[in-house]
Amino acid sequence: MSEIMLQQTQVATVIPYYEKFMARFPTVIDLANAHQDEVLHLWTGLGYYARARNLHKAAQHIRDAFDGVFPTRFDDVVALSGIGKSTAGAVLSLSLGQHHPILDGNVKRVLARHGAIEGWPGVKTVEQKLWQLTETLTPKEGVEKFNQAMMDIGSSVCTRSKPLCAHCPVAIDCTAQLQGNQSLYPGKKPKKVTPEKSAFMLVMVDNSTDATKVQLIQRPPAGIWGGLWCFPQFDTQAQLTDYLAIHKLEASTQGLAGFRHTFSHFHLDIQPVLVEITPDSATSIMEQHSALWYNIEQPAKVGLAAATERILSNLAVLFATH
Ligand code: ADE
Repeated sequence: MSEIMLQQTQVATVIPYYEKFMARFPTVIDLANAHQDEVLHLWTGLGYYARARNLHKAAQHIRDAFDGVFPTRFDDVVALSGIGKSTAGAVLSLSLGQHHPILDGNVKRVLARHGAIEGWPGVKTVEQKLWQLTETLTPKEGVEKFNQAMMDIGSSVCTRSKPLCAHCPVAIDCTAQLQGNQSLYPGKKPKKVTPEKSAFMLVMVDNSTDATKVQLIQRPPAGIWGGLWCFPQFDTQAQLTDYLAIHKLEASTQGLAGFRHTFSHFHLDIQPVLVEITPDSATSIMEQHSALWYNIEQPAKVGLAAATERILSNLAVLFATH
């Protein structure tokens, strides 16, 4: 669990999520039997949600194929969804002392600097060189200490900017340190302009009862925000306007601020559009089967996309002051 949560996420960020997850899912079986919505709910805010969906799937596979007992053979572990060669190596070396090298982002940076390995590690040949290095350097004895030390050096000493070489146990024969060009390693990804897309999000509010409710729909399982609950989304304002006309809805004069959400590969400029449903529009809108009417005061335990959460907190402010 911790190795999956720590992928691309810092230890301090992970700890509260890890504790909540372990309290709710103390065994693989508990996780496997949970509803995906609850798993994503506990992951909300941690990002990279494919990790949560894969972890859930892996737990179900362990329940069904391994009687709920986590496998100890490397080939079985690396075959689990969401677990690559490095994570499988980390899990089996740290938990059982098995001899496997690792190569996560932190270790890549330490090795690239120490051995002055040129090129961006996203390039196959560069990655292969780094794998060869970690395979050669990983000791037979004390592999768990070595692997944990490499990850910790990477995250706390051999940091991306301003590495603390004076505190580094391997500075003495680090090529980049000796050359004073640590910042050149690892090589950067060739720059591409990040594409910009727009999204219009329909924020439908039902204030007909005491509670304020908004309509959320679940994203398809694959792709951006897969399985998470979001506002209905349109690529253009015209599409949203058509939808409003069909359902006899009118955009409210109250505005919700637009904002930019940045993914790893594009920027999404989001404009929320507030609509308060009326008895006239209610029937066709309320009967949509896949929709969830999310009670702002008593939130359902589902996974929310970061943008959904941001809009919900703006809404809470708007309706608290009216
Ligand atoms: N990142 C991935 N695995 C880690 C670990 N075991 N310790 C610290 N950071 C990590």
